[in-house]
Amino acid sequence: MGDIDFFYDSPYRAELYDLQWNSPNLPDMDVYWKGFADLLAQHGKSIPQNRPFTLLDVGTGTGRILLGLLKKAAATSLDTSTAKFIGMDNAPPMLDLAVKNAAKEQIIPPVTWVVGSATALHELSPIRQQGITVDLLIFSFSSICHLRENGELKQFFESCTKVLTPGTGRAYISFVDGLLQRPGTDVASEFPPFGDPVEIRSLAYPGVWYREENDAGKFKGDILFMTNRMKVFKKLPEGGEEVLESHSGCHQLRRFSEAEVLEALESVGLRIVDTLRSDMMETYLVLQLPE
Ligand SMILES: C[S@@+](CC[C@H](N)C(=O)[O-])C[C@H]1O[C@@H](n2cnc3c(N)ncnc32)[C@H](O)[C@@H]1O
Repeated sequence: MGDIDFFYDSPYRAELYDLQWNSPNLPDMDVYWKGFADLLAQHGKSIPQNRPFTLLDVGTGTGRILLGLLKKAAATSLDTSTAKFIGMDNAPPMLDLAVKNAAKEQIIPPVTWVVGSATALHELSPIRQQGITVDLLIFSFSSICHLRENGELKQFFESCTKVLTPGTGRAYISFVDGLLQRPGTDVASEFPPFGDPVEIRSLAYPGVWYREENDAGKFKGDILFMTNRMKVFKKLPEGGEEVLESHSGCHQLRRFSEAEVLEALESVGLRIVDTLRSDMMETYLVLQLPE
């Protein structure tokens, strides 16, 4: 299933991620919302009613995109009653928090949360057991750059071909600028740190605080190395801190050249049908598996 990144491997880490990034207002939501609403409407018109619309959120994390879409659907009275929703991730602490986040929302339809690997989507139990195909697949927040081993990008695209509905299904894949190298552009040797240093109080664990900072990343070849220091602690009444968890490690992400992405797509038979942008310096490739 591939190693779980240390960034996501504890309940504290999952909460820290959630506190920092789980906002419904990030600009990528508009891209996915439009795709979701359009595809769902199209499905209602042209697809036999006995086949449910299925959305698969790959690397769902704490459910930011999937739950964001479902909350927006409820708020706008978009009928999702016949659709299926699957959130998958390879980090159980992230999924556990997604389950808790979903439980806070009374209005959303049921979601199947499942541990699995982005490179073996066809092995996910709800897909294997129910023989369903996916009408909208989302891999958000440039999470594809976690697939840093040679060959993993192609394996991911190959597994998309095994689950996407031929013809009408779409996969939305995001790449942050700087991790998708376009021809004729400078090859950067550094990458800005992910956000400013933070000190945040936990909402889930009484008295617990998080402190985190990231250094600017440095590329060695196509791998971005970014040092992350994170501490989970309690502030003691007499001063000082009781440290509950402390970690310093190097986050590694892969930069892909546009040429290698195009080659991997072509080799598995996926087609780019649209290329979108948002105000968060991301490009979204919209992919189709031709019939
Ligand atoms: C940057 S977070 C994005 C979370 C969420 N999609 C969002 O937009 O907020 C990346 C997520 O991808 C997951 N991930 C990384 N590699 C994965 C893999 N090979 N298979 C499944 N999930 C993976 C991580 O565990 C993490 O939850």
